[in-house]
Amino acid sequence: MSAPTYHRILLKLSGEALAGEQKTGIDPPSVERICDEIGSVLLLGIEVALVIGGGNIFRGLSASAKGMDRSSADYMGMLATVLNALAVQDVLEKMNHPTRVLSAIGIQEICEPFVRRRAMRHLEKGRVVICAAGTGNPYFTTDTAAALRGMELKCEAIIKATKVQGVYDKDPQLHKDAVMFKRISYSEALERRLGVMDATAITLARENKVPIFVCSMFGGSIQRVVRGEDEGTMVCEEGALPCVGV
Ligand code: GTP
Repeated sequence: MSAPTYHRILLKLSGEALAGEQKTGIDPPSVERICDEIGSVLLLGIEVALVIGGGNIFRGLSASAKGMDRSSADYMGMLATVLNALAVQDVLEKMNHPTRVLSAIGIQEICEPFVRRRAMRHLEKGRVVICAAGTGNPYFTTDTAAALRGMELKCEAIIKATKVQGVYDKDPQLHKDAVMFKRISYSEALERRLGVMDATAITLARENKVPIFVCSMFGGSIQRVVRGEDEGTMVCEEGALPCVGV
């Protein structure tokens, strides 16, 4: 087995990963499945910070599109991410992986507040740091929270684990002829609006030269990305690597 290329990663999971086939809510077998994948990365000695979305419980943007005040809707979305964080914490700890949930909004009876230096210390001690409640601000997505925490915690890569294998030129679930990119530049991902992550998140990663990987959440993909194997799509600097499709 090759040695890991990255030693500290920020792993972004969508809330839907926890819902499984039922699409909404928290499905315990799906949480176990995703925690097995995280566990396989931890066994390599990698430090893992996690950001989990909340779309399986409440999606702020959709609620605001239906007339709800955007800030209120986003705060509800942030609370949804806290529920997901606690569900993942419970399962990871049952698997004997120590964790700490750190929230961007103050709910100290439930979890610790996000304090960057404390989060760094937890990572150094081998604890999975689960960053809950997004950035703590409305109008920001959990993709942006993932990029922000990734930078703050000095993660060497941001890995977005999804239902599909990588970034495609069109939606692979709708188009059979969709082509997956092996590598693509930050600028091209932004210009072509490929839905890798939102523009704020990609811009943050570009400015700080942190690669973003998009890969499947299952089948050992996350572990292969961490080991530097040819897996998923890498979003990186222009010129650093050729940007080619497969
Ligand atoms: P070290 O000091 O590095 O050993 O970290 P630690 O997290 O083990 O120590 P600490 O004494 O800070 O925390 C002990 C437990 O209390 C851990 O499970 C923390 O997650 C939890 N904890 C710490 N601060 C808070 C808080 O503000 N709110 C809540 N709800 N739990 C907290």
